[in-house]
Amino acid sequence: MVVILDATEGDLAEIYEIEIQSFDQPYSLKLLKAYLFLSENLYIVAKEHDEILGYAIGLIQGRFKGHVISIAIAKGARRKGVGSALLRELNSRFMSMGATYSYLEVEFRNIDAISFYSHNKYLISFTRRNYYGRGRHAFIMVKSLRGESYLD
Ligand SMILES: CC(C)(COP(=O)(O)OP(=O)(O)OC[C@H]1O[C@@H](n2cnc3c(N)ncnc32)[C@H](O)[C@@H]1OP(=O)(O)O)[C@@H](O)C(=O)NCCC(=O)NCCS
Repeated sequence: MVVILDATEGDLAEIYEIEIQSFDQPYSLKLLKAYLFLSENLYIVAKEHDEILGYAIGLIQGRFKGHVISIAIAKGARRKGVGSALLRELNSRFMSMGATYSYLEVEFRNIDAISFYSHNKYLISFTRRNYYGRGRHAFIMVKSLRGESYLD
């Protein structure tokens, strides 16, 4: 059974493994560790039989905005609903902290992630040019948390 738990320092090595298999420009281990302090209870992992399948990091910004900082799932565990479960839990936590919407940046060529967020009811709101470097634009995708029933 997949369970979602708060991330701990002991999870970092596995989180980093997932990070490097998931991104061209992965976060460093140091940064992933720093988020343990910055994100407090918005840094979560999905585990099965003590193995980490994926992680998600969020931050509350400007009181009402839940910012999805990063989410990644181990290659062998994708398309099984784990990413959606993590996103759902993060949004539930955003809501309980008073956020009214959830947003994120995604590279405009990352079609897989855009499909994933669209499936989870995020809409492309605008483009931030060169966000990830020259010619690597970001879509800002947004989802209202009003009327969501994560808390039941
Ligand atoms: C994007 C990512 C987090 C999705 O995680 P996941 O656990 O595979 O996603 P889910 O199983 O919850 O997918 C739910 C739905 O999203 C859509 N989706 C997910 N991955 C998709 C893909 N590769 N291609 C097209 N649609 C996809 C599908 O509609 C899917 O439902 P289905 O499997 O019934 O068709 C994962 O592919 C990943 O870690 N990618 C690399 C890191 C990354 O790009 N992170 C986002 C950075 S902004």
